[in-house]
Amino acid sequence: MTQKMKVGVIGLGGIANTHMPGWQSSQHAEVAAGSDINPAVFATWREKYGVTRFYEQPADLINDPEIDIVDVCSPNMYHAEQVIAALEAGKHVICEKPLAPTPDEIRRMIAARDRAGRLLMTAQHFRFRGVSQAMKAEIDTGVLGAVYHARAWMLRRGFIPARPGFLYKAHSGGGPCIDIGVHILDLALWLMGHPKPVAVSGVARTALAKRKGAFSQWGRAPVPPDMDVEDFAAAFVRFENGATLILEVSWLLHHNTPDEEARVWLYGTEGGCEWPKAEFLHTLYANRQYTNNTLQLTQDTTEPHALECIEFARAVAEGLPSPVPAEQSLYVQTILDGIYRSQEAGREVDVAL
Ligand SMILES: NC(=O)c1ccc[n+]([C@@H]2O[C@H](COP(=O)([O-])OP(=O)(O)OC[C@H]3O[C@@H](n4cnc5c(N)ncnc54)[C@H](O)[C@@H]3O)[C@@H](O)[C@H]2O)c1
Repeated sequence: MTQKMKVGVIGLGGIANTHMPGWQSSQHAEVAAGSDINPAVFATWREKYGVTRFYEQPADLINDPEIDIVDVCSPNMYHAEQVIAALEAGKHVICEKPLAPTPDEIRRMIAARDRAGRLLMTAQHFRFRGVSQAMKAEIDTGVLGAVYHARAWMLRRGFIPARPGFLYKAHSGGGPCIDIGVHILDLALWLMGHPKPVAVSGVARTALAKRKGAFSQWGRAPVPPDMDVEDFAAAFVRFENGATLILEVSWLLHHNTPDEEARVWLYGTEGGCEWPKAEFLHTLYANRQYTNNTLQLTQDTTEPHALECIEFARAVAEGLPSPVPAEQSLYVQTILDGIYRSQEAGREVDVAL
């Protein structure tokens, strides 16, 4: 068997740990080094994963000649700089979501990828859930006809990540719009077949997070009063093909769900469907009847964060396209950026890829 490619992980926090089972079970790649601006985490990684090479400076990991793949798991605002540097050093890159908070940064990443001739993937793990893969395969057979409307929402009653990487624009670039809106919007656009967005009317506001006593259900941690991102966003999106989409996202909302509700509905001329129920709805016009069918899931059920790493390494090893190309993240971020621009303008704004 040929030697496994060597992975270097940047940002050894929560999500980097979630990627590890994927790297540990990949046939093609294994983690050889880690980097974090906080060296206190190195001892844990040495003990937990047997990783022995660490760098305080991400640039040193990026320039390590033994590294083939860089896995960027740092806070959002550092993604563009680290991804571009890694591509320029000749590495293949998988990067956590959002690929970057702004469309301009993503355009620069795409240009760097093309100059380098390396693979770049956004870690959109929702796509790697068995139910998502099964629904996408079913939708791609054309059973919905032309999809003319979608609804996507990801709503939490009280799960605000009370960490600096999320609560301050300087690190995150935005609130739930960028943090979780990116998951559900990416999924909806992928299921819809990526129609081109042309206009967005959106709001992004801090409705509850600055109330005295605001807290996160994660550890009952208080929300620092100087946090400077929104806690709620909603949008109406128009696409070039005439389709529309409604998006709602929140970290804190008086919504009757114990933790989080994430859903996507697609409505087409021939049928509709709901994710993650995998329910497909059709009308038998000749009989004046409705049918509702739930897909029987036969797909692999590997944990989706693990699967995205496994699939990225496979794509690099086998010369396949990126499992989640940066162009598709440009669609997502163009819409999310449009929400902030629309909030500022107080009206619908045009968006262009
Ligand atoms: N896909 C998912 O389900 C999911 C879930 C959570 C977070 N994320 C994404 O992962 C990224 C990290 O989030 P997290 O929850 O792991 O955060 P975290 O706060 O748990 O960990 C971030 C780590 O990065 C380090 N760091 C900070 N600045 C750095 C820099 N400039 N260079 C290198 N390391 C740096 C911190 O010291 C920390 O160890 C974010 O982009 C976030 O959006 C994705």
